[in-house]
Amino acid sequence: MNPLIPSNLHAHSGHEQSAPKLMFFGDPHGDLEPVIAAVERFRPEAIVLLGDIQARQPLHIELGPILDLTEVWFIHGNHDTDSDADYDNLWGSELADRNLHGRIVEIAGYKVAGLGGIFRSKIWDPRRPVEEAAFASADALRRSMRREERWRDGIARRHRSTIFPDDYLQLLRAPPADILVTHEAPTAHPHGWQAIDKLAETLGVQLLVHGHHHQTIDYLAEGLMTVSAPFRAFGVDMGSHLVWPLDPQGETERGSPPQDLLDLATQVFGTEAQTWLDKPHELLDGQTPVAFAAAGGSDKVRSMLNAIQHGGVV
Ligand SMILES: [Fe+2]
Repeated sequence: MNPLIPSNLHAHSGHEQSAPKLMFFGDPHGDLEPVIAAVERFRPEAIVLLGDIQARQPLHIELGPILDLTEVWFIHGNHDTDSDADYDNLWGSELADRNLHGRIVEIAGYKVAGLGGIFRSKIWDPRRPVEEAAFASADALRRSMRREERWRDGIARRHRSTIFPDDYLQLLRAPPADILVTHEAPTAHPHGWQAIDKLAETLGVQLLVHGHHHQTIDYLAEGLMTVSAPFRAFGVDMGSHLVWPLDPQGETERGSPPQDLLDLATQVFGTEAQTWLDKPHELLDGQTPVAFAAAGGSDKVRSMLNAIQHGGVV
């Protein structure tokens, strides 16, 4: 077995040839180390966190090491309202005004639209007409509540990560954008929503990136969308990231496996890591480890690498 070898995988992948404009990060769920490490390594112009951040300290403190290196933006996810700490460490942070939810901001030369949170049928099932929503807006919900039912004199904490029809419609009527970031997925995902597709198409975006499902998916590469689709769509796993624009070598077009998987492959195979990751394997139903991981099988690829590293034959 190879001893520990310093990671040189990215020198081969071309990621370090030029600083990326934008990097999108999957749901951190409290672990912002991969975000800090990637920003220190790639020095993107700006980053967008795709929700479920759950910072353990106020976000500007967690991301303190990189605030001078890049521009930080985010959308919130459903878990960002799980506890008072989750809520306060995001909405009470000095970065709170970097929430893209419900608006379009020019970032690194792109007009980026954001829709944080998730659909909750008690408020609005987007498969039903807007008129059938229980509440059109957070304000309408608040007005229906007795004072003692309120949280901090407003709607329940949980519903601060719910998508209300008015938030959605306001974005739907906004001027065109280049990129849409959402926590919810488009219909190419089994748990995706037509309303997300419609928003992306109406805004005329070329790119949609989402979190929430903890899967790195390049929908085009996986055959879940076609080249004739009006936009490209990607899901990004927790601990992983997507670079935009895609690098010319097409590394990210195949879907980047999570950073820890790349590092583990490099530890095990050294300079042959990329070769192993790109070679079909019978234990992965004949798929390459990269494709298998991109389709949600990171854990299996990781356990194979661990087995090889510890002397097993795989
Ligand atoms: Fe989520």
